[in-house]
Amino acid sequence: MSNSHDDMCLKADHGRGLFNWRFGSTLRKVMVALLVMIPIISLAVGLGVGLTRGGDGRGNPTTTTPPTIGGNQTTNKTVKWQPEVGTTWQIELLYPLNDTSFDVDIYDIDMFDSDASLISELQGQGRRVICYFSAGSYENWRPDADKFKDSDLGNTLDGWPNEKWLKLSSSNVREIMLSRLDLAKEKGCDGVDPDNIDGYDNDNGLDLTEDDSIDFVNFLAEATHALNMSLGLKNAGAIIPKVIGNMQWSVNEQCVQYDECSIYAAFTAVGKPVFHIEYPKGDNTNDNKAMTTVQKNTACNNSGARNFSTVIKNMDLDNWIETC
Ligand SMILES: *[C@@H]1O[C@H](CO)[C@@H](O)[C@H](O)[C@H]1NC(C)=O
Ligand SMILES: *[C@@H]1O[C@H](CO)[C@@H](O)[C@H](O)[C@H]1NC(C)=O
Ligand SMILES: *[C@@H]1O[C@H](CO)[C@@H](O)[C@H](O)[C@H]1NC(C)=O
Ligand SMILES: *[C@@H]1O[C@H](CO)[C@@H](O)[C@H](O)[C@H]1NC(C)=O
Ligand SMILES: *[C@@H]1O[C@H](CO)[C@@H](O)[C@H](O)[C@H]1NC(C)=O
Ligand SMILES: *[C@@H]1O[C@H](CO)[C@@H](O)[C@H](O)[C@H]1NC(C)=O
Repeated sequence: MSNSHDDMCLKADHGRGLFNWRFGSTLRKVMVALLVMIPIISLAVGLGVGLTRGGDGRGNPTTTTPPTIGGNQTTNKTVKWQPEVGTTWQIELLYPLNDTSFDVDIYDIDMFDSDASLISELQGQGRRVICYFSAGSYENWRPDADKFKDSDLGNTLDGWPNEKWLKLSSSNVREIMLSRLDLAKEKGCDGVDPDNIDGYDNDNGLDLTEDDSIDFVNFLAEATHALNMSLGLKNAGAIIPKVIGNMQWSVNEQCVQYDECSIYAAFTAVGKPVFHIEYPKGDNTNDNKAMTTVQKNTACNNSGARNFSTVIKNMDLDNWIETC
């Protein structure tokens, strides 16, 4: 109990830092956006015909030749849970979930802070549970924090003083993430939401590249699928074409704010949902008040995000939620 207040403060800082950091790299993101547009467009055109949800709807492979992206299949045929485009969701990471009344298909909640009984309670209500953990950053308050080696750690995340970027090629880091996946399985999670896999886009102190992230995300995918769980790609628009085949969804923050929803539409184009969050109240307003009409029009009236599973949240990712 005495730790939970500390945790809340840490996570609240976390949220504000995220905003600052992403704001700082907006220009870069716009440039990346332009660069990845070309493959995305050809992808969408190439896949426009024939690709539904990677099978006949009962988990059996299609007999047609699967479309490929950069040599990889767009859908891992053995994945059992592929949510549909438009699936509704809630995300709450600030404290152990204490409000399950919001009527949606999926809850995305903190893996460490959620016990098996909460997860099975949600599933008993006919819902699916996605378990969040940070895969690409060291968080100093987690129960397994002492397993990381000094050589695994890079720079402190901008604005998140209790986190450091992780060396994605480290076998020690990968072992720790495999243990976290085992824990997610043990707790009964249907899927996982591994965060902070886009160190390449940040001052990480480890010379992390896009290729490092591609390799790491595909590694996580294979391990997750082997446990019969599903996973999504968190942000990381630049690497979508290289990993989308192994991903069952995208979790995106602020694509409307940064004008990059067209990048993430690569997911909906192949029948995979985009779980999309906007924070129109800004980085420092975490209250229970409704967004204003102007905020709503800005966050919600975006043609590029029309088929996304959009939620409006406070930056601290508490219970508060609105939809468009
Ligand atoms: C795998 O996951 C699917 C979908 O969640 C479930 O229906 C199935 O029973 C699971 N299979 C095993 C062997 O656990
Ligand atoms: C949930 O927990 C938080 C943090 O302890 C608290 O502020 C909030 O009032 C609780 N909400 C409900 C619905 O119990
Ligand atoms: C597909 O999933 C299976 C298990 O569900 C896993 O063994 C395999 O590595 C996955 N393939 C890819 C390319 O992710
Ligand atoms: C294809 O998938 C494999 C294994 O998941 C990964 O290592 C590789 O980088 C991917 N290649 C391309 C071109 O996407
Ligand atoms: C939404 O956008 C369309 C075109 O972009 C515009 O015509 C319409 O007035 C906007 N609606 C609101 C409520 O902002
Ligand atoms: C959204 O999905 C509908 C139905 O699948 C499709 O007709 C429409 O073109 C999609 N819109 C966008 C903006 O992707």
